[in-house]
Amino acid sequence: MGSKVTVVGAGFYGSTTALRLAEYNVFETVVLTDIVEGKPEGIALDINQSRSIEGFETKVVGATTTPEGAGYEATANSDVVVITAGLPRKPGMSRMDLIGVNAGIVRGVAENIAKHSPNAVIIVVSNPLDEMTALAQLATGFPRNRVMGQAGMLDTARFTNFVAEKLGVAVGSVKTLTLGSHGDTMVPVPSRCTVDGQPLSGRLSAEEIDDLVTRTRNGGAEIVALLKTGSAYYAPSAAAARMAKAVIEDAGIVMPVCAWVDGEYGISGVYLGVEAQIGRAGIVKVVETDLSATELAELKVAAEAVRTKQADVQSL
Ligand code: NAI
Ligand code: 2OP
Repeated sequence: MGSKVTVVGAGFYGSTTALRLAEYNVFETVVLTDIVEGKPEGIALDINQSRSIEGFETKVVGATTTPEGAGYEATANSDVVVITAGLPRKPGMSRMDLIGVNAGIVRGVAENIAKHSPNAVIIVVSNPLDEMTALAQLATGFPRNRVMGQAGMLDTARFTNFVAEKLGVAVGSVKTLTLGSHGDTMVPVPSRCTVDGQPLSGRLSAEEIDDLVTRTRNGGAEIVALLKTGSAYYAPSAAAARMAKAVIEDAGIVMPVCAWVDGEYGISGVYLGVEAQIGRAGIVKVVETDLSATELAELKVAAEAVRTKQADVQSL
């Protein structure tokens, strides 16, 4: 049987993710769902009509679902599921302002997915990300390695773009890293950043690096403020789609993702942004990297902040 990925939520994030996944041409089927009647079917038809132009065979199937679970048969036996359902931010809102309403949505989606795709690897993107990832694991009851969240790929890509633009160099020559939460306690990691393999600190002053760190932390809000309605989706969808591809290809690539941490960095029992090896099992292993004392301290602060919030979602 061919491979199947489901994207739940056919809004900006979900529809662009479905398009990217289809264009990779590695899955047999991409299923796109939404509770807005006809929206996923319409987007699926539109993407399928681009197949002969772009040259891919992956078939996109749109399915209207209900929060109670009608329509989920179309998602049955998915290998990977990307959960994008939920409200995005408005200008001035923090990701945390979304927790109440999105918790209800993500819990319901996760329960329906678990029923129909008991062996899937789940990639959560709904905000607030770290908390929704923890909630999806609770609601599915899946092993923790099979539930992860997308944030670090995006935040790292933003950091990389800012560094490349600042220095006027190719993005391909820049390597950056962000860990921690997808929120106020995001931990950009300048000590691991390089340009053409050389430390970033040799190219930019501490103050310049600090400015880029701050801009990275506010990367989502900067776009929300410009768009006025809705949040970013081109870079976010690229991040989630690459993670889904790494799973289905059993790539073993190390990516910054939101993963269950069990002793790494002296932190346990929390979903947190860390680097991890991604494969068919989901998280194959969390990979520790050398951090400066300040960065490690910041990561521990992030862990405690999300631990408290992740405990709260159990009752939402
Ligand atoms: P959007 O408003 O364009 O789309 C959300 C879609 O979810 C809507 O079409 C809505 O009908 C659907 N939906 C709501 N309840 C549903 C349910 N029970 N089942 C299926 N579909 C349901 O929002 P957008 O831009 O697509 O963002 C989606 C989420 O992703 C937001 O929570 C946003 O904050 C988050 N996000 C996360 C990022 C990350 O890095 N983790 C980056 C960007 C956005
Ligand atoms: C972002 O970082 C809002 O989480 C979303 O763009």
